[in-house]
Amino acid sequence: MRHLLEIDDLTPTELREILSLGLEPIGARPLEGQGAALLFEKPSARTRNSMELAVVQLGGHPLTIRPDEVGLDTRETVEDVVRTLCCYHSIIGARVFEHSKLERAVAVSSVPIVNMLSDQGHPLQGLADVLTLADEFGGPDALDGRVLTYVGDGNNVARSLALAAGMLGMEIRIASPAGYALTDADAAKVRAAGVTLHCSDDPAAACRGADAVYTDVWTSMGQEAESAQRLRDFADFTVTDELMALASEDAVFLHCLPAHRGEEVTDSVLEGPRSRVWPQAENRMHAARGALHWLLEHR
Ligand code: CP
Ligand code: NVA
Repeated sequence: MRHLLEIDDLTPTELREILSLGLEPIGARPLEGQGAALLFEKPSARTRNSMELAVVQLGGHPLTIRPDEVGLDTRETVEDVVRTLCCYHSIIGARVFEHSKLERAVAVSSVPIVNMLSDQGHPLQGLADVLTLADEFGGPDALDGRVLTYVGDGNNVARSLALAAGMLGMEIRIASPAGYALTDADAAKVRAAGVTLHCSDDPAAACRGADAVYTDVWTSMGQEAESAQRLRDFADFTVTDELMALASEDAVFLHCLPAHRGEEVTDSVLEGPRSRVWPQAENRMHAARGALHWLLEHR
């Protein structure tokens, strides 16, 4: 049985298989008459809605569980919650603070576990991101050799994005303020997946000639106490029209959302002609359908 905790749980071929399933017309019903439990320790708009709809499109019944309803490690251990859910459901998605909770879930689960965002990664977002880039540039194979620049925090989103786009042959550039780069261990993991990765603290240099520019919030969920410090540290890392002008003529702008306009991106870029954030949000559903379908085929 296979799980999806991070993009490099997949080979490049398997990554392409998921994208192909996501691009298939809706119709297959591998979840007919079955349940999917979706556990959330944090808020969500896109992930909850795209996963629920993906489950419905695959013929199943989604059951979203909010943090106060099960109390992971407070009312009951992660292990006991997961073993209970396995009695009813054919797949479990979880959005958690600590990635280790997902690893503990995998250790006791008899059904596939899907990471719906942890401190380590956001693989469903990475899949949607590459679907969006593939739509833009002519399919997954057309991404080979193109340049993707990520400006901002070397966080969960950056890591999954670098793996997903890099495993399809994109050159990855990440520009972050000092102290907020991908960790050495994460950069090594990305490079071990065969990805060409350049890390710097120079957004302008990183954006020059890029085919896509991506950013995420400066303060992720759970880091709110660091918000004032982060506002100062990231002050020179806003994606502006001036920064976008350095990218290639047909470059697009991506953001996983939610966005903080005026912080990591200006309103003008987010709402501008290069922005693909709404097709990207829609692709969350197609990517989720592809990922769930693939995992169900590999039970
Ligand atoms: N991009 C993303 O994961 O959005 P939500 O936090 O709204 O699910
Ligand atoms: N990096 C953000 C992504 C939200 C989708 C967070 O972890 O809060």
